[in-house]
Amino acid sequence: MSETPALDVARIQADFPILKRQVNGHRLVYLDSASSAQKPQSVLDAMDRIYRESYANVHRGVYTIAEEATAAFEAARAKVARFIGAPEAREIIFTRNATEAINLVAYTWARANLEAGDVIVLSHLEHHANVVPWHILREERGIEIRWIPLTADQRLDLSDLDRLLDGASLLGITAMSNVTGTIVDVPHLVQAAKAAGAHVLVDGCQAVPQMPVDVQAWGADFVAFSSHKLLGPAGIGALWARAELLEAMPPFMGGGEMIRDVTTEGFTTNDIPWKFEAGTPAIAEAVGFGAGIDYLAALGMDAVREHERALTQYTLDALADRFGDNLTVYGPAGADDRGGVISFLFDDIHAHDVSQVVDEEGVCVRAGHHCAKPLMRVLGVPATTRASFGVYNDRADADALVDALAKAEAFFAI
Ligand SMILES: Cc1ncc(COP(=O)(O)O)c(C=O)c1O
Repeated sequence: MSETPALDVARIQADFPILKRQVNGHRLVYLDSASSAQKPQSVLDAMDRIYRESYANVHRGVYTIAEEATAAFEAARAKVARFIGAPEAREIIFTRNATEAINLVAYTWARANLEAGDVIVLSHLEHHANVVPWHILREERGIEIRWIPLTADQRLDLSDLDRLLDGASLLGITAMSNVTGTIVDVPHLVQAAKAAGAHVLVDGCQAVPQMPVDVQAWGADFVAFSSHKLLGPAGIGALWARAELLEAMPPFMGGGEMIRDVTTEGFTTNDIPWKFEAGTPAIAEAVGFGAGIDYLAALGMDAVREHERALTQYTLDALADRFGDNLTVYGPAGADDRGGVISFLFDDIHAHDVSQVVDEEGVCVRAGHHCAKPLMRVLGVPATTRASFGVYNDRADADALVDALAKAEAFFAI
C-alpha cells in the first residue's frame, strides 16, 4: 500500500466551476483530461486579475503596470522551471503548445545539425506532434526514421534498442502514451541513447500533468509539454532544453523580442529564452499556466500520481467485472505501469457511437484515433473510445462511465 495521502477530490471538485453544470439532464462527468484539462477558479482568477489590474505588453514598457505584467510573466516561467526540476528559468521557452515546442526543435536544432542519412528514432506510441515534424524533415533532408516497436500489451519492445539507436542523432520519445497510458522508462532510454551518442527529446504532454517529473533526473536534452493539460489555459506550452543547447541553436521565428540589434544589413539575437520568443507572447496565458502549476504543486505530484493510479485500477477492474470480454482495453494490464488513460473497444460498436450514447448520460469521453495513427495501425483499429482522468475525477465518475456504457450495451443490444 502506498503511503501517499489521497487527494481530497470533493474539495478539488468545488474549485472547478464547470463541474457544477448539467449536461443532457445529468451532472457533468468529464473524462477527457488527456485531451485537455478543466480549469480551477484560481487559474480563471489569475488571468482575470492580470487583465483587470496589470495588463500591458511585457519586456517593453518602463511604466509600473508594464513592469508588473513583465514580473508576472517571468514569475510564471520560474514556476514552470521549478515544477519540472529545470536548473534555470531561462531554459524554459514559452511556445503555443507542445506541438510548437517539438517543431521548434525540428526547425532549429535538427535543421542545424542533421543531414541526409542521419537517423532519428521514434516509437509506435508517438502522438502526431512527435511524428509529423520528423516526416517533414525526412522529406526535406532525407533523414532516416527508425521505429521502436511495441509488445503485445503496447509497451515499448526494447529487445532491439541498441541496433535501432546505433548511429542515431536523436531519440524522440513520449514519456506516457495518450492512448494506452503506457508509462515509458525515460531514464533507461536516455541512458541507452546517450551511450549511442544521440540527443533525446521527450514528449512530456501526458506525463508532466500526471506524475512527478524531474528533467535533470531524466537526463534528456529537450522536453515539450502544454499548459492546457496542466489545468492552465490553451494557447501556451513550453519547451525545456539545456541552456548550452539553446544558446547554440539558431532562432526559430524572427521579429520583435528575439533580437538584440537589427540593422539594414542583419540582426543579432537576444539572450535565451527570449531568442526563441518572437513577437508579443501569450501574457495572461503564461500567468494562467503558472496558476495551474501552483494548483498541482500544492496538491503534490506524488499524490496526483497515486490518485491517477488508484482511479485507473478501480476503473479497469470495474470495466472487466461488468463487461468481461465484450470490452477490450489496450495497454499494460495493471495501473502501476500506466497513467490515467483507458482506451478501449466495446464489442463491435463504433467508438463514436459509444461516445455519443454515453454523452446522453453526461459522460464526456473521446472517440477517434487520438492523433496517434501509427499506433492505431499497430492496434489494427481505426479508432478507440478513451476515458481519461484528472485530479477532479473520483470513483463516482468511473461508476457513471460503467453505467453509461451499460446503457450503450443495451441500446446496441450486444
Ligand atoms: C502525448 C501527446 N503529445 C503531444 C500532444 C500535443 O499537444 P498540443 O496539442 O497541446 O500541442 C498531445 C495532445 O494531446 C499528447 O497527448
